[in-house]
Amino acid sequence: MKKLALLFTLAITTAAIAQPPKPRIDSSKYPRLTNFTAQQDHENMMKQLGIKKLRPGPSGNENAPNHANYDESVANPCPQLPDVLTTKDGKKVTTADAWWKQRRPEIVEEFEKEVYGRVPKNVPKVTWTVKVTDREFINRIPVIVKMLVGRVDNSSYPLIDVNINMMLVVPANVKGPVPVLMMFGGRPSFPAPAQPQAADLEKINAAFKDLMIKNDPSLKEIFERYPAYSPITSAAGPGFFAPPKPEDQLTPQERLLAAGWGYVTIDPSSIQADNGAGLTRGIIGLVNKGQPRKPEDWGSLRAWAWGAARGLDYLETDTLVDAKKVGIEGVSRYGKAALVTLAFEPRFAVGLIGSSGKGGATLHRRVFGEAVESLTGSGEYHWMAGNYLKYGTEESSFGRKTGCDLSVDSHELIALAAPRLAFISYGIPEKGDAKWLDQKGSYMATIAAGSVYKLLGAKDLGVSNDYMKEEMPPMLTDMLNGELAWRQHDGGHTDAPNYKSFIPWASQFLKYERRTP
Ligand code: GCU
Repeated sequence: MKKLALLFTLAITTAAIAQPPKPRIDSSKYPRLTNFTAQQDHENMMKQLGIKKLRPGPSGNENAPNHANYDESVANPCPQLPDVLTTKDGKKVTTADAWWKQRRPEIVEEFEKEVYGRVPKNVPKVTWTVKVTDREFINRIPVIVKMLVGRVDNSSYPLIDVNINMMLVVPANVKGPVPVLMMFGGRPSFPAPAQPQAADLEKINAAFKDLMIKNDPSLKEIFERYPAYSPITSAAGPGFFAPPKPEDQLTPQERLLAAGWGYVTIDPSSIQADNGAGLTRGIIGLVNKGQPRKPEDWGSLRAWAWGAARGLDYLETDTLVDAKKVGIEGVSRYGKAALVTLAFEPRFAVGLIGSSGKGGATLHRRVFGEAVESLTGSGEYHWMAGNYLKYGTEESSFGRKTGCDLSVDSHELIALAAPRLAFISYGIPEKGDAKWLDQKGSYMATIAAGSVYKLLGAKDLGVSNDYMKEEMPPMLTDMLNGELAWRQHDGGHTDAPNYKSFIPWASQFLKYERRTP
């Protein structure tokens, strides 16, 4: 029965969204789309940079002979971090003005050139369409759900289509506009799609039976034998009358809604693929007209961050949303993407940065768990700018470089978010938030970033900024008194257990109080 219902829905939706056939594209008018494997693309970038040999990344398996380092005594080969408050020409930054006008732009420039790549000047426009607006119930909370698609203008290179998939969910039982947390995740789907009422369902069934009989007249007799049979049943969710879930079983989304927040799910892979072979497609490929990247071009992390900013463009036009109170969230590779988004897009007011590791909150210079060499290998390099490969290089036209040669480090990425709200979140290795992520290296970076928060009149973790001296606190210690916050929960590779702390912390600093209409 369920299957039939599904088939039917499928048939209807396909019919409803079937578009007139697209005009044929004469591909000979455009540069040929490059079809590289990740390996070929990686080699192409090495060649462009004059790299002969990269050091291999360490193994994540602790029993392998080439396993990653977990010995704290050799984890800091170059303990002196670039000073976040000293300009390139050696001047101390002591005023907010000097930070905004000189030091911050210097740091942005280095990150763009060497680490994450630049967003090209000519990225085409995105046009947002609300495909469906639905009224649903999530854990008894009435919500408005909007399924959105952001179509990127591809008239400059029609061989590549980019359509950003995003879904907005806001509570309908509070006085809006509401703050919203944008979450990097998979392809969005309706949480609890509203189902037709009994009378509507009856009509649908009658029409469906007619349609089936037209297709196969022998069915008429069968339907007459079972007059009370309805081929289509409602797949109604629990709706408003379901018993409420126990508090400790709430999902992050349910917690947000209960606190009067909305959320957005945005699908990174609809912006840019999570692999090197995809670099000649997606938004990066579209701007490059299907050609491989140059060393300063953006990688997937920066592309995902760009897509999130375009999502925010839409939210600014939606009256249900308080666009001054929009956050960005992600875990693991999407934790890196969330931090990059927060750092580069000042319209995001808050970030929840989950287990982001190397390329995220953890210091590049640290040699503990995942290494720079992991990010320069062919499985992960696509996250970064091509130039980043230089720092894993053993032999090349420019010699040998390591993470210690980077002119910036992750404490400065966090500092780019200042004085806005940044919550750096981790779990514990015992529960699966692997040592590979280097929680301690992230703590050191957060400590070092604090001096910029203080310079700008905000609060940091409330301890000193001496990252070599400060000890990482035990798990479950709340360091939530400032705009810069840290908490290691007692779960695994997720940020879900930290929402209980994150939501009140963010609401307080954003001065948001849930109110009923
Ligand atoms: C790998 C990778 C990490 C990344 C993680 C993930 O472990 O080395 O950098 O954060 O995958 O995204 O799940």
